[in-house]
Amino acid sequence: MENYSIRDLSLAENGQKKIQWAYDNMPVLREIEKEFLRDKPFIGIKIAVSVHVEAKTANLVKLLIKGGARVALTGCNPLSTQDDVAAALASEGIPVYCWYNATKSEYRNHLIMTLKFKPHIIIDDGGDLAELLHTTNKDDLVDLIGACEETTTGVHRLKILEEENKLLYPVIAVNDARCKHLFDNRYGTGQSTLTALMSTTNLLIAGKTIVVAGYGMCGKGIALRAKGLGANVIITEIDPIKAAEALMEGIAVMTMDQAACLGDFFITVTGCKDVITSKHFLSMKNGAVLSNAGHFDVEIDVKELKNMSIKKEEKRHNVMGYQIKNGNWIHLIAEGRLVNLAAGDGHPVEIMDMSFALQALSTRYILENGKNLLPKVYEIPKEIDEKVGAILLKSKNIEIDALSEEQNYYISHWEI
Ligand code: NAI
Repeated sequence: MENYSIRDLSLAENGQKKIQWAYDNMPVLREIEKEFLRDKPFIGIKIAVSVHVEAKTANLVKLLIKGGARVALTGCNPLSTQDDVAAALASEGIPVYCWYNATKSEYRNHLIMTLKFKPHIIIDDGGDLAELLHTTNKDDLVDLIGACEETTTGVHRLKILEEENKLLYPVIAVNDARCKHLFDNRYGTGQSTLTALMSTTNLLIAGKTIVVAGYGMCGKGIALRAKGLGANVIITEIDPIKAAEALMEGIAVMTMDQAACLGDFFITVTGCKDVITSKHFLSMKNGAVLSNAGHFDVEIDVKELKNMSIKKEEKRHNVMGYQIKNGNWIHLIAEGRLVNLAAGDGHPVEIMDMSFALQALSTRYILENGKNLLPKVYEIPKEIDEKVGAILLKSKNIEIDALSEEQNYYISHWEI
């Protein structure tokens, strides 16, 4: 029997090309590859990965395999899987369980199939494997040493489990590394969200009003890039300090109730739910475009938008138009799922080079130290974070200054 469950194996050749293109542009992973080929740290180790199945992720999987691991892969969002990449990995004998546009139950089955691998380590993006391991699939915990979590929402869910004393294994919060959120969440989400919005709609950004809900790491990246493209940006927030930060950046700040009638484009990226709801749909302009870049598809009340609509029409691929009773059309991109992956290729390759370098090194750290760690959410070790930054600079032949002995003494003592 095949050890994969994918859409179409014949797509493998195109997937291989995408994977190779990403590999050629991932110098940090290539440097870590040398270490893994030399040390083979993962011999005898099984790793279950639930991350968006696309070319950069494929390179993380192949790197872990080069380090001696057996890896099973599934997606972390039914709309972000690229079937050709899944086929390429399956054609190399890697157990892959996912396909684009899986139903809710197919998606869940794919996660479960990945856990049946009885992993020693899991790499999660959003905490869906973790949810199963803490509920219906506790039997699959037998060999688990620990986990790495990729995104803000996943870390948030795991910290709640920890606070409730229910977390069952140690987790490294890869998201919280400086080399992750300063680059991936900010520049990665910033560029890829706008790319997805522009390519799905083919509409102009300059001169338009873009409402960004949430001015966290991702929101900042999106807002600043939108500003750079000539948009008038409005921020909605719940945190007064983040709101003040946006204000000082020269960005208008207001409530969603106030912003709803002003926006041409809306992008939610809060990690919260019900940010845009029925009262907002009713006051929006005709033709407003709605999208979400937060991890789960709960930020825009899509169910209510569907209920309120009197007509539904696919306007372009990934652009669904809903006409509501006041006659206005509201356009929803990629069903309100994270737009940069469901309607695009996700973050630029160089960004994921850093994020997945952190994942690879954290996976090794969990393996080597997990047995001494408690079931808690741990910050990524500073040495791993700095190592990834240093490899990146080295790959670009950039040198930075080092502290002299006197400087080191000066900054580590209180007396002048
Ligand atoms: P963050 O915690 O830095 O920022 C979230 C911001 O939203 C905070 O400033 C918070 O005050 C604000 N917020 C929360 N509820 C709100 C509400 N109801 N209305 C307005 N503002 C609200 O988190 P980060 O890193 O920016 O991540 C945000 C979401 O994006 C998470 O779900 C994360 O997992 C996801 N993410 C998505 C990526 C992508 O590729 N699309 C990449 C990285 C993260």
